[in-house]
Amino acid sequence: MEDILRQLEEKRAAARAGGGARRVGAQHSKGKLTARERIDILLDPTSFEEYDMFAEHRCGDFGMAEQVIPGDGVVTGWGTINGRQVFVFSQDFTVFGGSLSEIHAQKICKVMEQAMKVGAPVIGINDSGGARIQEGVDSLAGYADVFQLNVLASGVVPQISLVMGPCAGGAVYSPAMTDFIFMVKDSSYMFVTGPEVVKTVTHESVTQEELGGAITHTTRSGVADGAFENDVEALLQMRRFFDFLPLSNREAVPVRPTDDPADRLEPSLDTLIPDNPNKPYDMLELIEKVIDDGDFFETQPTYARNIITGFGRMEGATVGIVANQPMVLAGCLDIASSIKAARFVRFCDCYDIPIVTFVDVPGFLPGTAQEYGGIIKHGAKLLYAFAEATVPKVTVITRKAYGGAYDVMSSKHLRGDVNYAWPTAEIAVMGPKGAVEIIFREDRGDEAKIAERTEEYRRKFANPFVAAHRGFLDDVIMPRSTRRRICRSLAMLRNKKLENPWKKHDNIPL
Ligand code: HXC
Repeated sequence: MEDILRQLEEKRAAARAGGGARRVGAQHSKGKLTARERIDILLDPTSFEEYDMFAEHRCGDFGMAEQVIPGDGVVTGWGTINGRQVFVFSQDFTVFGGSLSEIHAQKICKVMEQAMKVGAPVIGINDSGGARIQEGVDSLAGYADVFQLNVLASGVVPQISLVMGPCAGGAVYSPAMTDFIFMVKDSSYMFVTGPEVVKTVTHESVTQEELGGAITHTTRSGVADGAFENDVEALLQMRRFFDFLPLSNREAVPVRPTDDPADRLEPSLDTLIPDNPNKPYDMLELIEKVIDDGDFFETQPTYARNIITGFGRMEGATVGIVANQPMVLAGCLDIASSIKAARFVRFCDCYDIPIVTFVDVPGFLPGTAQEYGGIIKHGAKLLYAFAEATVPKVTVITRKAYGGAYDVMSSKHLRGDVNYAWPTAEIAVMGPKGAVEIIFREDRGDEAKIAERTEEYRRKFANPFVAAHRGFLDDVIMPRSTRRRICRSLAMLRNKKLENPWKKHDNIPL
């Protein structure tokens, strides 16, 4: 009996050793942790239940029969983060470069299926040389099985990808279909075709980091939602991020008790808006002053910065925040910001996370780059996302809400539940100057007359009261009371029920 127990311990030790001390050393020398070290930081101590530790590949080609490492390059199972259940898979680069084999894929699929059954999120840690070359099409089949489950799990349980090493070729499409992708600076990259192929085909010289590193994907492509300095920071931030998320589409948002009073007034907000309507101010300041304890997890903070998206809490419960940022492109909507915010709104709607929208938008960004790039279709994504969302929607217009962008930004007309404006709000078809130049064309050149007309237009429309007369706003509120008014609204909306007409699925403009 003792022998058998010892054998089990030996087998476990072999699996835990991964690809051996030399390869673990190589992993550490690149500044990367091993698959198991990552799980240890991500999950609560001793909470990890590992599955399939003894799984082995079945490949006999290219000398693989002699190379068998238990676990087959991925560590899988479940555990808890601050006591809440989560499924994980963590690719082990020390075992066949973390490459994906038939069995490796089966292990990932098993935890994804369990996660969907019990209703808990999946966090995937990607660090892999891609398809296990020795296995050929079996490996490709394995990828497709994972892709299929990514799609079936989408909207059922949150899926988060942490890319902490190579992720190239078709392998990128599994993270791409998850809800959020986070990367580590200088040690991770994602691209469909690598620098050598790029060089051959387009004659461009580009490094791995330039082509698909964390900075590229969080500033240029928008593929990733956040970039961290190193593995430890990334994993600790994932614990913080996880605390905002519901476990599944059947669970309510998590509530974390807070000492921040729901009726806290913030007098400094009364002077946030500059007297000059063309002067910017920092919308992040407003967000941080309104949410619980100023604790904001911003998604895509360095991409399409003219719109802010992220999670905060009101009275302890998670809310999604969408806000125009007047500091960047005057807060205009453009292609990148529309796509960024649309995807965020849809995530919130999938998981019943109420959406709080702060509006200061002068309109859509003009220009051939935008029109040729398809702003019509991409801008429609954000409109569509707000319009289809059935979660509680509370909107506060702080300053400009002009033209189509007024409609788009969670207006009353798109089933906004509670729509407020500050007294500084300006709601109209367009800004006073542009409007006067069109409707008083005959006065062109007469500066005094134009100035007079502009002032008249400003008096009439550059305020929230015309919209309030129509009931398009529920109230004009004091800036200092914004937190209290939003908390009250969200409390009132807690049991909101709204369903869209039955359909197989919608057809959002892609
Ligand atoms: C099998 C692999 C492997 C792979 C790496 N290894 N990638 N084994 N299949 N795809 C093994 C190596 O043989 C080596 O084994 C160990 O992992 C570490 O690899 P190194 O090359 O020594 O590491 P490093 O120098 O850090 O380079 C990492 C790398 C490189 C850039 C990822 O290994 C590489 O280019 N690998 C091949 C990438 C690739 O072409 N994959 C297929 C892409 S197609 P030992 O025993 O020496 O430790 C694809 C399609 C997916 O993925 C399709 C989905 C639809």
